[in-house]
This record gives sequence, structure tokens and C-alpha cells, in this order.
Amino acid sequence: MPQATIFASDVSRAALAVAQRNAKRHSLSDRIRLIECNLLDGFFHRTAANAGPSVVGAQHAAPLLGKDALRESPVTSHQSPLFDLIASNPPYIGRREAAALMREVRDHEPEIALYGGEEGYELYAGLIAQSAAHLKPGGILVLELGHNSLPAVQPLLEGPTWTNVAITNDLAGIPRVLAVERL
Ligand SMILES: C[S@@+](CC[C@H](N)C(=O)[O-])C[C@H]1O[C@@H](n2cnc3c(N)ncnc32)[C@H](O)[C@@H]1O
Repeated sequence: MPQATIFASDVSRAALAVAQRNAKRHSLSDRIRLIECNLLDGFFHRTAANAGPSVVGAQHAAPLLGKDALRESPVTSHQSPLFDLIASNPPYIGRREAAALMREVRDHEPEIALYGGEEGYELYAGLIAQSAAHLKPGGILVLELGHNSLPAVQPLLEGPTWTNVAITNDLAGIPRVLAVERL
């Protein structure tokens, strides 16, 4: 998708450094903006003064995006980006499952990349709420799921904001990818 402008965010600076190396390797550095933030916080009405050094705030996103991809707050006049697609592979393992994890995962992956909370699916509610605020009408949210996430995540998509939920199973038959459309 050579026309796409891509923002990639992570709360971990170390993970973003890996992403930066990968982007460079694939000659995509000029099309991807890396943003250090919790979930999608970095896209909400930041100003240069309160943004961290590698955080790209909405005011930096603005020149990269067309007018129809920005929403202006009627209250503060701040602009925030609206996306066609948001995709996330959040941490979704429960801390209560840690003892049962394969050692090569538990002992070598950073904890922040593995655990979404005690149950595992805790980050989805915030991510879905923030995604609703940052997708264009008709925009698509794609989430990777943990093995026990679907019953917790699907109810979050009921109501007037979302439509057309599609679930894709992995090779073990576990619901692994959820895609949903913003109304
Ligand atoms: C399962 S890894 C996925 C890594 C990479 N995005 C990918 O898809 O291969 C989960 C990533 O989420 C990041 N993460 C954990 N909690 C986060 C949060 N609250 N906000 C943003 N990123 C978070 C971790 O640092 C880790 O890089």
C-alpha cells in the first residue's frame, strides 16, 4: 500500500527501536511515524510541550494527513487524526497463566509484551474505546486475540458504534483475529 501513511505506537521505547530498524531495513522510514505512548494516548490532543521526545502528537500528524483525516474539537480546536485502519497485537496473556507458559516465552520475552493483566484481556476495553474515537466512519479495527479473549471482547463491540464483526480462527481452531467496522 504505497499510498498509506502509517503510525506505529508502542509503550516500550526498546520495542520502537526494533520497529525503527525494521522500517529502515524495508526502506519505509519515511512513511512510518513511530509513537511512544500508552495505547492510543499519543494521538489525543497533545501539544509539543507535554509530548515526550519521540512522541508524535496530533499537530505532527496533521501535515501528513489529508483534511478529511483530521477531526477538530469544537471545544478546543485541537485536531486529532482519524484513521482508515487500526491494527493491534496487544499483550493478551493472563498473569495467572504465567506458570503454564512455555519457558522460551516466559523467560525470554519482556513481560510488557506478554501480559495484558491478571486475566489477559484487560487492555482491550481501553483500546476499543480509543479506536472508536480514531477511526473514520467505515474504518476497520483489527485485533489479535488471546485464547480466552473473545468472550470478554465481543460484548465491548455491542451497541451503536460498531458493526460487522468477523472472527478468524488460528490453525488450532482458537478465535485469533477479530475485525470490526466503525459505523
Ligand atoms: C504481543 S507484542 C506485539 C509486538 C508487535 N507490535 C507485533 O505485532 O509483533 C505486544 C506489544 O505491546 C506493547 N504494549 C504493552 N502494553 C502496552 C500499552 N499499554 N500501550 C501500548 N503498547 C503496549 C509491548 O511493549 C509489546 O511491544
